[in-house]
Amino acid sequence: MAENISQSVPRHIAIIMDGNGRWAKQHGLKRMFGHQRGVQTVHDITEAAAELGVEYLTLYAFSTENWNRPQEEVDALMSLLVDTVAKETPTLMKNNIRLLTIGDITRLPEKARVKFQTCMEQTAANTGLKLVVALSYSSRWEITRAVQLIAEDVKKGNFSADDINESLVSSYLTTGDMPDPDLLIRTSGELRISNFLLWQSAYTELYFTPCLWPDFTVEHFKEAIADYSRRERRFGKTTEQLQK
Ligand code: FPP
Repeated sequence: MAENISQSVPRHIAIIMDGNGRWAKQHGLKRMFGHQRGVQTVHDITEAAAELGVEYLTLYAFSTENWNRPQEEVDALMSLLVDTVAKETPTLMKNNIRLLTIGDITRLPEKARVKFQTCMEQTAANTGLKLVVALSYSSRWEITRAVQLIAEDVKKGNFSADDINESLVSSYLTTGDMPDPDLLIRTSGELRISNFLLWQSAYTELYFTPCLWPDFTVEHFKEAIADYSRRERRFGKTTEQLQK
């Protein structure tokens, strides 16, 4: 059982939702059934995050590299995203959740882009959890884009190269003024970050679980938060300095 976690709920939780394909294979089903079951987990974890008072929940739904999957799977994933956003908008409204996206949404098929934009507009005034869906996202894409935008601004004379510092670079990322993630969860037992929030996770606590995403329950989520709450975050300092 997860212990009492109300004392130290992370402000920002990011999740690499992995293992849908393997879940489907284990059940003798086609990969898309795994993604469909994964949507139910998205629903449950989003509601739980809102209830627990998490401020930001960022979900890695589609990476830049996922465009290289078989076209049939890419098309089916895009349709699933469209259907999910349409179906889940009332749940977002009911729970006062605001939808945001990060990533290159200009690459999405028009239908998906419009659905996400419409949902973002509909939920814009909601003041509870911010649900951030990473779509056509990768950190290297994002950092490269930031460097291009900064170079253009230097060229235009908006500021000089000497003015470039960490907070300026952060502000050019698609995460803009979002706080860095406190906790990054990856399901399915893979031990890597896969081009997700590389700059932003410099001091993020990492949590890996063998559980496949469709099997990941609210109880597992609370266990991850409880594990996080037992950690000492030093940000490069010593324990003694933190105790002062
Ligand atoms: C990784 O599993 C999962 C994905 C690439 C897609 C996840 C997307 C969803 C669950 C839809 C989410 C919808 C919204 C609106 C947030 P995998 O296919 O890499 O699994 P495998 O490693 O076992 O093959």
